Amino acid sequence: MREVIASAPSKVNVCLYVGAPEPDGYHPLVTVFEALNLREKVTVRTSRTPGIHVRTTAYFPDGSIDHPTTRIFTEMDPRTHLAWRAAKLMQKLAMATPWAQTAAGVSIQVDKYVPVAGGMAGGSADAAATLIACQKLWDLPLQEKQLHAIARSLGADVPACLVGGLSLGTGRGDHMHVLSNQVPARHWVLALSDRGLSTPEVFRELDAGGGPLGKWQPLPTKDPEHYMFFADESEKIAPHIHNDLSEAACRLRPELTETMRSARQAGALAAFLSGSGPTIAALARDEKHALQIARTWEQSPYVQRTICAHGPAQGARLESL
Ligand code: C5P
Repeated sequence: MREVIASAPSKVNVCLYVGAPEPDGYHPLVTVFEALNLREKVTVRTSRTPGIHVRTTAYFPDGSIDHPTTRIFTEMDPRTHLAWRAAKLMQKLAMATPWAQTAAGVSIQVDKYVPVAGGMAGGSADAAATLIACQKLWDLPLQEKQLHAIARSLGADVPACLVGGLSLGTGRGDHMHVLSNQVPARHWVLALSDRGLSTPEVFRELDAGGGPLGKWQPLPTKDPEHYMFFADESEKIAPHIHNDLSEAACRLRPELTETMRSARQAGALAAFLSGSGPTIAALARDEKHALQIARTWEQSPYVQRTICAHGPAQGARLESL
């Protein structure tokens, strides 16, 4: 039996601009991702049992098992799990290698630390970690470009979880450009809701409202140089943080407005919707300030729990062979 362990980061979008939907219904994006040190861990093992078998265990930030979320994954069709779909694509490639004999069966253990359906790319991180773990497991001679194309076919956020750091995403947010690896550490606090928010539902609400603030605007430039300032200190980037999905998500969940307001009152440099939500991210001045914001949020009836995280974090990486 061979085993490989890999991990991949979650993310916040420090800016997210959404263009009018294209004929296939998808929206073009210009977005800057910041990867967070809150990571998913994936263990892949060759198995004598044919097929791909996924087991998921969800954890709270204190390391205890989140039994209700774990149960949801146990009951769902494994083929809808992004880790399963990532392994399936890699397994097909492995069939053309000397590992073909052992590629028929693989078991995957996904250890989830990123909240589910929270707008932090937890599912995409599972896929990114599975891709690089399978690549190693079967010694697949893939070039970076090929790996990115596979990642993109799995979901718009998967390439961002692969590259990590601070990156610009264009197209559907899946064409990546690394902005900088020299970013001062940032302190984030995340407020989780007790219910997830579906990404398609938020985009539909945006369409129903005729675009951000009732009007579709042309997308800003795709030139990476223009977004380099996001590598600056927290105080400097805070006024530029922006999310075009914010109003649509707040119409669906009015309490999110109050969650942002309470973080700002606690001195957050910025408080905004993470991706398509419902997680709200707050940018703190330092570690102590992050804990202060977390304590304020803990008093809120709308916040289920809080997580403190750092960014930017490394992209998908092997943890052991
Ligand atoms: O890429 P992902 O599978 O996460 O997208 C989920 C859904 O969100 C899509 O099926 C689409 O309805 C919507 N979406 C969109 N435009 C994007 C990204 C997602 O309309 N750029």
